[in-house]
Amino acid sequence: MTVRRSVVVGCGGYLPEKVLTNDELAQRLDTSDEWIRDRSGITQRYIAAEGEMTSDLGTAAARDALSAAGFTAADIGLIVVATSTPDETFPATATVVQAKLGADKAMAFDVQAVCSGFVYALATADNFIKSGQVDSALVIGAETFSRILDWQDRGTCVLFGDGAGALVLKAESGAGTTADRGVLSTHLHSDGRLHDLLYVDGGPSSTGEVGFLRMEGKEVFRHAVVKMAEVTVEALEANDLSASDIDWFVPHQANKRIIDGTAKKLGISGDKVVVTIESHANTSAASIPLALWVATQDQRIKRDDLVLIEALGGGMTWGSGLVRW
Ligand code: COA
Repeated sequence: MTVRRSVVVGCGGYLPEKVLTNDELAQRLDTSDEWIRDRSGITQRYIAAEGEMTSDLGTAAARDALSAAGFTAADIGLIVVATSTPDETFPATATVVQAKLGADKAMAFDVQAVCSGFVYALATADNFIKSGQVDSALVIGAETFSRILDWQDRGTCVLFGDGAGALVLKAESGAGTTADRGVLSTHLHSDGRLHDLLYVDGGPSSTGEVGFLRMEGKEVFRHAVVKMAEVTVEALEANDLSASDIDWFVPHQANKRIIDGTAKKLGISGDKVVVTIESHANTSAASIPLALWVATQDQRIKRDDLVLIEALGGGMTWGSGLVRW
C-alpha cells in the first residue's frame, strides 16, 4: 500500500542577538542564578531587539530551513506559523512571513496552541499534505514571549525567551510502515477547563490590551509530567513501537526537571534527549523546532532516525508526534 508522507527536507532556526543571563536578571529582580538554574535548568535566554517582530524571527528561520532543503519560497504550498505572540491581532503572522519570503503560491495562516503550537502546526500541515491539498509546507514556530511577560513577576519572567524554528515538509510516497520517512503520526489533546493555570490576562475582545502571562507554576508542572508521558505513550502504542525504538526524544523545553521526569517515566536514557533549555529558556511554540535545528546542526539527528516530539501549553493543550527523519 502506498501512502503520502510529509517528509522533513529542511530544518532552520533563528535566535535574536541579545542574550539575557540569569545574573543580569538578578540585578533587577529578587532572584538568583542559582535559584533559576536549580528550579528550571535555565542559564540564559535570547531577547528580540526593539522593533524585531515575531514575523522577522519566523522569516529568518524559514529562510534557513528553505536553504537547508534546497527549496525556494515559490516551491511552498502552505505556511503555518505557530505563535501566541503575533505581530498584530490580525492578519495572521504567517501572511506577513509569506510576504517577506515572497512565497506567492502558498496559503498561510497561524495556529494558536501556545507551547503545544508547533505540534499542532505540524499535525495541521501533515494533514494538508496527506489529503493531497498541498505538496509542500513550511511549519514555523516563532515567538517574542518577552513582549507578554510581566518583568516584575519573578515566578514567570525568568522562564521564557524569544526565538524561531522551522521545518520544510515535502510530500513523498511511503509504504505505510514505520520504516517510512516522514511524519508517522500526531496526537493532539486539549482541556479548556484548565484555562486558569496558564493564560494571558488580556486580549482584543476582553481588555483591549495585550496583557501579561499568568501561571500557576506548580500546577502546570504537575499536569506537564503526567500528560506529556501519557501522550508519548499514545504515540508509541499507535505505531506499535516502544521507547527503545526512539533515536531522539525532543520534548518542549519548559523546565529541565519536567524533561528529566518525562524521559525517566518513559524509560528513555538521557543521551537520547535533546535539551536546549539551558541556553534558550522556554520559547513556547519555537522550542521544539529550535531543538530540532540544534540537533540537526550538530549532526545528532540524521536521516532515518526516529524522532519523538511532545509538548504541553496553555489552554491546556498537549500533543506528540513521531517523525522518521
Ligand atoms: N527566584 C527566586 N525565588 C522564586 C522565583 C525566582 N525567580 N520564583 C519563585 N520563587 C519563590 C516563590 O516565591 C516561592 O517562595 P515561597 O516558598 O516563599 O512562597 C519559592 O520560590 C518556591 O516557589 P514554587 O513556585 O513552589 O517553586 P517550584 O519549585 O514549583 O518552581 C517553577 C517554580 C515555575 C520553576 C516550576 O513550578 C515550573 O517550572 N512549573 C512549570 C512551568 C512551565 O512549565 N510553564 C510553561 C508550560 S508550557
